[in-house]
Amino acid sequence: MSDRPRLTVLGTGYLGMTHAACMASEGFEVLGVDIDAEKVARLSAGEVPIFEPGLQELIRDGLSSGRLRFSTSYQEAAEFGDVHFVCVGTPQRRDGHGADLSQVDSCVDGLAPWLTRPCLIVGKSTVPAGTAVALAERVAAKAPAGDGVELCWNPEFLREGHGVQDTLSPDRLVIGVTSAHAEAVLRQVYAPQLTAGIPLFVTDLATAELAKVAANAFLATKISFINAIAEVCDAAGANVTVLADILGADARIGGAFLRPGLGFGGGCLPKDVRAFLARAAELGAGEALNFLREVDAINLGRRTGMVNLACEVAGGSIAGKNVGVLGAAFKPGSDDVRDSPALDVAQILHGMGAEVTVYDPEALESARKVCPNLRYATSAAAAAAGAHVLLLLTDWPEFASLDPEELGTVVAARAIVDGRYMLDPAAWRAAGWKYRASGIPGPAPAEVSPQPL
Ligand code: UDX
Repeated sequence: MSDRPRLTVLGTGYLGMTHAACMASEGFEVLGVDIDAEKVARLSAGEVPIFEPGLQELIRDGLSSGRLRFSTSYQEAAEFGDVHFVCVGTPQRRDGHGADLSQVDSCVDGLAPWLTRPCLIVGKSTVPAGTAVALAERVAAKAPAGDGVELCWNPEFLREGHGVQDTLSPDRLVIGVTSAHAEAVLRQVYAPQLTAGIPLFVTDLATAELAKVAANAFLATKISFINAIAEVCDAAGANVTVLADILGADARIGGAFLRPGLGFGGGCLPKDVRAFLARAAELGAGEALNFLREVDAINLGRRTGMVNLACEVAGGSIAGKNVGVLGAAFKPGSDDVRDSPALDVAQILHGMGAEVTVYDPEALESARKVCPNLRYATSAAAAAAGAHVLLLLTDWPEFASLDPEELGTVVAARAIVDGRYMLDPAAWRAAGWKYRASGIPGPAPAEVSPQPL
């Protein structure tokens, strides 16, 4: 092995693209591999198919320095790399709640027969506990280098929209290894982070695999907790956003991931919660995680709750009404619409007979691809034009400065459902809007406009 290990990154989705670009920016020679030839061609030309701040620049820098290349060949990867990072997707199975590991299996099956010299295969994909051991057996059976190929697990905690920062400077590093040699090589790979004082946890394989799903399950639980409390606030006439601030001010609780609203979505949290439940059941520990079923149910319930609020402010029925939807991405700072709560609500309303027009600052293109039946607008005002009901469903910062007077001049009726608690209820009500959000009390008597006698 040369001074610095040469790296391959297998799978160039969100995770792989970001990991490859960041490692190249730290001076490693990196080969990104994907079976999608079109994607490889685009990446090789410096085109990044997703919206991720800072990533395009890093990829272009890597390409022009010659340290970063892309290929479709596992043979080339095997010949080139000392450390092979597995970054392919592990979506939810079509026939159940467990993780679909077919991409991980086929990636390892594609690589192993070409591995003729000692190297590390390092899983980064989110997988059920026990996957690494099974893969190690698979590799040992197929790789000419046999025991010389070591399997490790190095979960990735990056958030979309912060991928570059989270990769270069994560809160912690976790490596599951079975030998001191593997630990030493991974310490070399993460030398910049270790020098910067980022904590490293060296564990067995199962603990490393669980670290990721347990972290995501905890984050999901925090979000569903505060969303469940929002329903209680509704019943009690209390204010959930104030309550969340009060809870978050307790250092033992912390305010992060305690933002109430339409709940969590995206390519990770929902499917990781379900896969964790499924794997725990397979291991005979399903009952221990029963509460995660509630976490999932509370989360999905927010979507139907939002639809009910939309019907309520529309005067009972939404059929035939114009609905403006602000937000399509599963969260701000991203153009990802995978399991997006916003788009889900938009689709349900469309299914109920509403004319739905969606605006999102970044995700219009991706939304149009998966929901071609909805209408799309290129500004919040355009989505609001003629609307009987407006719904704010993704917390893009620009929505916080929407002007109730200005928007009031384009809508057909001043009615808004704030699914992310971004607007000041008093200001919107003062401008004559029917403002509704779960867990926010109705207008105070002083705010209610006097009724004619
Ligand atoms: C998540 C994890 O944070 C990350 O560590 C893991 O590697 C991948 O999954 P990501 O999917 O990018 O990252 O999104 P995240 O920022 O965690 O948000 C997830 C969802 O929760 C979004 O839909 C967001 O809108 C929602 N959310 C987040 C809330 O509803 N309330 C909050 O307080 C925080």
